[in-house]
Amino acid sequence: MFLRNLLRASAVIPFLYTTVTAQTACNNSPDLCSRSYSNITHLGAHDSPFLRNQETGFSTSGNHFYNTTIQLDAGVRMLSAQVHKKNKSGTETLHLCHSSCTLLDAGTLRSWLEEIKAWMDRNTNDVVTVLLVNSDNASPSDLGAQFSASGIDQLAYAPPDASTIPQAWPTLTTLIGNNTRLMTFVASLSTPATEFPYLMNQYAFMFENNFENTDPSNYSCDPSRPTNLGTPAAALQSNRMFLMNHFLYDDSLFGIQITNVTYANVTNAETGLGSLGESLNNCTGVYGKPPSFVMVDWFNMGPAIASVDKANEVTGAVGRTNMGTQALTQGTSGVVRQRGSLLAVVVAVVGAVAFVS
Ligand SMILES: *[C@@H]1O[C@H](CO)[C@@H](O)[C@H](O)[C@H]1NC(C)=O
Ligand SMILES: *[C@@H]1O[C@H](CO)[C@@H](O)[C@H](O)[C@H]1NC(C)=O
Ligand SMILES: *[C@@H]1O[C@H](CO)[C@@H](O)[C@H](O)[C@H]1NC(C)=O
Ligand SMILES: *[C@@H]1O[C@H](CO)[C@@H](O)[C@H](O)[C@H]1NC(C)=O
Ligand SMILES: *[C@@H]1O[C@H](CO)[C@@H](O)[C@H](O)[C@H]1NC(C)=O
Ligand SMILES: *[C@@H]1O[C@H](CO)[C@@H](O)[C@H](O)[C@H]1NC(C)=O
Ligand SMILES: *[C@@H]1O[C@H](CO)[C@@H](O)[C@H](O)[C@H]1NC(C)=O
Ligand SMILES: *[C@@H]1O[C@H](CO)[C@@H](O)[C@H](O)[C@H]1NC(C)=O
Repeated sequence: MFLRNLLRASAVIPFLYTTVTAQTACNNSPDLCSRSYSNITHLGAHDSPFLRNQETGFSTSGNHFYNTTIQLDAGVRMLSAQVHKKNKSGTETLHLCHSSCTLLDAGTLRSWLEEIKAWMDRNTNDVVTVLLVNSDNASPSDLGAQFSASGIDQLAYAPPDASTIPQAWPTLTTLIGNNTRLMTFVASLSTPATEFPYLMNQYAFMFENNFENTDPSNYSCDPSRPTNLGTPAAALQSNRMFLMNHFLYDDSLFGIQITNVTYANVTNAETGLGSLGESLNNCTGVYGKPPSFVMVDWFNMGPAIASVDKANEVTGAVGRTNMGTQALTQGTSGVVRQRGSLLAVVVAVVGAVAFVS
């Protein structure tokens, strides 16, 4: 009976299939389970909800071809977004917008958090990090209300103290065991998040290198934010986690930050001038260990995950969807989407056969 129902609802089978394999792995690899949260290089999707695909009419303000759910399916474990206040019928609502809500509005913070929560409910052995850029200085209670409304607050980790970096961050196994699998950082909070202790002020716990770069030979490993850290040695000594930005902006005329897509296959590659692999090597040399986070645009290109696996010394990762390394354009997207659904059908059939036999 159970089996028959399963076979009828063939869409359920790939889901069960990933759950079964995921139980032996944490964030796609058994090797990562016992490692501390900070002792892992997490792949980050910069401006995760801002898409350049059919949904947005191939907006030049997009940073990725595939949405947050697909990013997570493909191995991304850090998601960043800008939070803006938007007036809608007299009420201020928190929306995810790229620079301004007239340029690109990806919907409400709440619905995005619901999307992430739905993914995390399906993938119970995964730790996900959300990094919010607090563009209009929303208060902790404004932000916290959206976390509560989405239900994702139930999965949120809170540090022992809002202003003290833990001596040792928990391991993935501990975070998974406590079901505190969501790590949330905000840049920045101007008032303490006393009632919402899971909203961590980003720069109390992390530092990052410069992100505004238009030249493949100009990446730097030096700390840029918070601004008072000075040298790499001082940043290291502060015990903050290192977030390495690695994306390239176009040489834009009007100062609008459009990301360089024509060079992205090199930017996200393992080797080459201005590649992710080169930056990881350089910065690992500077700090004596790889960064805890790397933030990229066009996450599928490269693919960026290959350099991250190398930094983690992970081989044979499981449970990921491979989206290919191509850029999506108006002409190609239809084909890619069809291939995607064909692949889903094939996986469903293989999953069914494996389950029955
Ligand atoms: C994690 O720890 C191992 C062992 O000390 C070290 O080799 C590796 O570089 C560390 N990785 C990160 C991202 O901290
Ligand atoms: C993400 O993209 C996939 C493929 O286009 C689509 O099926 C899915 O509905 C999208 N998810 C959300 C939450 O938009
Ligand atoms: C929204 O409208 C109110 C009332 O008109 C105003 O005080 C507030 O500044 C507006 N907020 C934004 C983000 O425009
Ligand atoms: C929950 O977290 C605490 C503190 O980090 C840890 O001591 C404990 O082992 C965790 N519980 C599980 C089930 O992992
Ligand atoms: C790259 O760095 C060099 C040396 O710091 C600087 O002179 C140049 O203006 C930078 N180029 C860009 C495009 O930022
Ligand atoms: C993208 O980067 C490449 C490599 O630096 C450069 O040749 C190209 O002009 C850039 N594209 C734009 C639009 O800035
Ligand atoms: C990147 O794409 C360009 C243009 O399609 C191609 O000429 C180049 O060989 C590609 N480089 C890599 C590293 O894939
Ligand atoms: C890495 O370091 C080399 C040598 O200092 C430099 O030429 C290169 O531009 C750097 N690349 C990146 C991506 O940091």
